[in-house]
Amino acid sequence: MSVEKEKEIEIEQEQEKEKEQEKKIEIEQEQEKEKEKEKEKENEKEKEKEKEINQEIEFDQTDPELITKTIKLVAIQVPAQKCHLVMSKLRKNVLKRAKNKSVIDSQKKGYKLVLLKETITNKNTLEGLPERTIKFIKSLEDHEILIHELLVGYNELSPREILTEILPENCDVPSSFETVGTIAHINLHKEQLPYKYIIGKVLFDKNKHIKTVVNKIETISNEFRVFPMEVLHGDPNLETIVNSDKIKFKLDFSKVYWNSRLGHEHSLLVELFQKQDLICDMFCGIGPFVIRAAKKGCTVNANDKNPVSIKYLKENCKINKVNQFVSIYNLDAREFILKIFQTWKQNMQLLNAHKKIHFVMNLPKISITFLDVFKKAFSLISFQSDPEIQFWVHCYFFINVDQQESETQKGVEKYLDSKIEIFDIKFVRSVSPSKDMVRISFLIPHQLIIQKGKHRKLSNN
Ligand SMILES: C[S@@+](CC[C@H](N)C(=O)[O-])C[C@H]1O[C@@H](n2cnc3c(N)ncnc32)[C@H](O)[C@@H]1O
Repeated sequence: MSVEKEKEIEIEQEQEKEKEQEKKIEIEQEQEKEKEKEKEKENEKEKEKEKEINQEIEFDQTDPELITKTIKLVAIQVPAQKCHLVMSKLRKNVLKRAKNKSVIDSQKKGYKLVLLKETITNKNTLEGLPERTIKFIKSLEDHEILIHELLVGYNELSPREILTEILPENCDVPSSFETVGTIAHINLHKEQLPYKYIIGKVLFDKNKHIKTVVNKIETISNEFRVFPMEVLHGDPNLETIVNSDKIKFKLDFSKVYWNSRLGHEHSLLVELFQKQDLICDMFCGIGPFVIRAAKKGCTVNANDKNPVSIKYLKENCKINKVNQFVSIYNLDAREFILKIFQTWKQNMQLLNAHKKIHFVMNLPKISITFLDVFKKAFSLISFQSDPEIQFWVHCYFFINVDQQESETQKGVEKYLDSKIEIFDIKFVRSVSPSKDMVRISFLIPHQLIIQKGKHRKLSNN
């Protein structure tokens, strides 16, 4: 067989193989599609089930008239004129419910019932009361100890009591919620989902300052770090105002990032800034660092890629009267850095007026990867700056709880492409049992600012 023929056969065989491979991939893709379809169907079924249960509950039990609870209480029946004296001795041990009285009329004419707190359940022993109180009760003339059945309705019950009545035993009652202005957000577990609307309604009804109750559907995975959420009850408009450190932050919780738990860290970082410093917030959101720093008198360059965040940032600067201190950009963080370096290049006064420049990077999942922009910024743009100026970076990220400081440092150095010597790592908050959020604050090293072949004092072009 000629060499050419052999080659032809070889090529044909390879083509066959490729075809087979393609077929295999096609089959696999088909199978994947089928699986996805099945998953979708299952999700639909789950949703239908949720809807049914919720509608049923909505219909049956959210009618305030229908939710009642009978609480058995130990009561001391005394003549009405002695009631004052009895109350003065039993004050600490009587019923304490926001919407129910501890003294009520008795069925026996001229007598009152003093209702004891719910933890006292045995009318014979009065267990739980101090000895001297029991003695006092026993010494009373013309008294009787009875069990009184107190019927409590939707209006008098606490949210926990209502939900305990409604939810099945295997389903935990949601114990708390976080607030963002007038919005309550909860994070329901799978077994609570069929009851989500009733949970939303109860929390709404029982917390007068709450305008909307939302449930976070999944963890954040979108670019702008907005929580995917579902309105369970109340006003579907999620615009609200948060008051923090005497600052008003207006935001739409369904369109921008906000985390009330970060308030302390926002204040802590801004405490490091001096009035004459320049702050460049690369991922500013609606402005929690920006407004605080500007209120202090710092000059601020604020940037976020989410146009809605920028809209609210502008409003917040106005509301808090700091417009004159803040320049606002709606760019990708890398472009923003290159742009401000260009601006400095064109007008060195903008930079030289400050002794410290702070770059704030709070996008913990990936902010570290943006550190590469500094090498480019300092190398592309030759500028004359005061050698005294310090460039600080405050970069947030998530780490495994057992990660060593040296690993964090190495990670930073990898993206920065330079060693760092002056740095500080601070714990910010625990995100999960295995994950922490930390902040590393470091001084941009001299060798990065003055790179090989570059001189600090270069001309303006
Ligand atoms: C975790 S939030 C922090 C917001 C604010 N600094 C705070 O502390 O509340 C991160 C922000 O980065 C913005 N963002 C995401 N990717 C970006 C990018 N490539 N460039 C600029 N901003 C970005 C998001 O829109 C979001 O507002």
